[in-house]
Amino acid sequence: MAGFSTRAIRAATTAPQVNQVPSSVPIYQAAAFSTADAAELGDVLTGATPGYAYSRIDNPTTAALGNAVAELEGAEAGLAFATGMAAIHAAIVSVVRAGQTIVATRAVYGTTRDLLVRVLSGLGIATEFVDPRDLGAVDAALARTGAPVLYVETISNPTIVVSDLAALAEVAHRRGALLLVDNTFASPYACRPVELGADLVMHSATKYLSGHGDVLAGAVVGSHERIAAIRPILVDVGGALAPLAAFLVLRGLPTLAIRMERHTETALDLAAWLAGQDGVERVHYPGLPGDPSHSVAVRQLHVFGGMLAFELTGGREAGRAFLDAMVVAERTASLGAFRTITTAPPSTTHRQLDEAALREAGIAPGLLRCSVGLEDVEDLRADMEMGLAAARKTTRSATRS
Ligand SMILES: Cc1ncc(COP(=O)(O)O)c(C=O)c1O
Repeated sequence: MAGFSTRAIRAATTAPQVNQVPSSVPIYQAAAFSTADAAELGDVLTGATPGYAYSRIDNPTTAALGNAVAELEGAEAGLAFATGMAAIHAAIVSVVRAGQTIVATRAVYGTTRDLLVRVLSGLGIATEFVDPRDLGAVDAALARTGAPVLYVETISNPTIVVSDLAALAEVAHRRGALLLVDNTFASPYACRPVELGADLVMHSATKYLSGHGDVLAGAVVGSHERIAAIRPILVDVGGALAPLAAFLVLRGLPTLAIRMERHTETALDLAAWLAGQDGVERVHYPGLPGDPSHSVAVRQLHVFGGMLAFELTGGREAGRAFLDAMVVAERTASLGAFRTITTAPPSTTHRQLDEAALREAGIAPGLLRCSVGLEDVEDLRADMEMGLAAARKTTRSATRS
């Protein structure tokens, strides 16, 4: 008989035989998968035989998430990543080489901007920022730089500008560039960029796809060919998603539609209400008929989504007072969860930008971004009323002094 430790190892690692289909995707919490013989391991590692060998390369739970996001986005294939940034990095470097220039939207998530100007610039990849609403400027930048990539967000962070993806895909393809779209703010329920001509679509699955604010994850979807070109970056850089994290995102997907409907209903109500309040300079929400993005949004989005932004007349000071007065909404930097999250982009998500860069990105000093959650709308309105009262006080004391 084998010794105690040997028996313990065998006993603890013998997976049960399951002949019935489980009602959720099991968490394959394993670093490696063993094969019947050495030849099979070699075949799996080289891809000659489908299967699993090592979870950085592939894992059943993680693969299920990549496939699920591809299915929801209407794409041929998908890969899951450890974070949204790992997904965005892999998508970009799968198509851009040193010496080339990326054309990117000006109002882009702060860390994506950092990836472009701090990390990729060090590898000889330059970025030219443009206003995605100005198709002539986009066309001119693509023509001037010969960029292989036009990078945009379906709904921009934090100014809630909806990009006309069909028009941008046409311009990009005419200039020989691929259109890469960060669809995090919209989710595949609100928008499917592949259907509008996008070549690769990225997600911070940390946000709406998961919906519960308890996991970090990312995903990229596209054609079989483009995803095959991304896989070596995932494997060699090591941005693999943990199986438990993949399971948590998978658990969010069945309720995505119903969550997005409720997020939208409440956001529309709050946006319309905020637009009439003293101390609010401007509301950015594509569902409002007067919003500059409204007509594109009506054409392109199935629902307007849960992200809204508003500018307070009192600037940064008023923004701080507003945030500090709230008791229902969370003061943090994430979004897309069941709980409402309000943040001041100039001092959080876009803290990397100086005043000039903030202005250039259209971010007013008193801008607040709100990820509208699933709470009761009356409670959220009451919370915002308290925020506005505190913000007005700062404006009055500034006028007096
Ligand atoms: C639009 C957008 N894209 C990408 C990311 C990065 O996602 P992650 O934090 O999962 O890396 C974020 C994070 O806030 C985001 O808002």
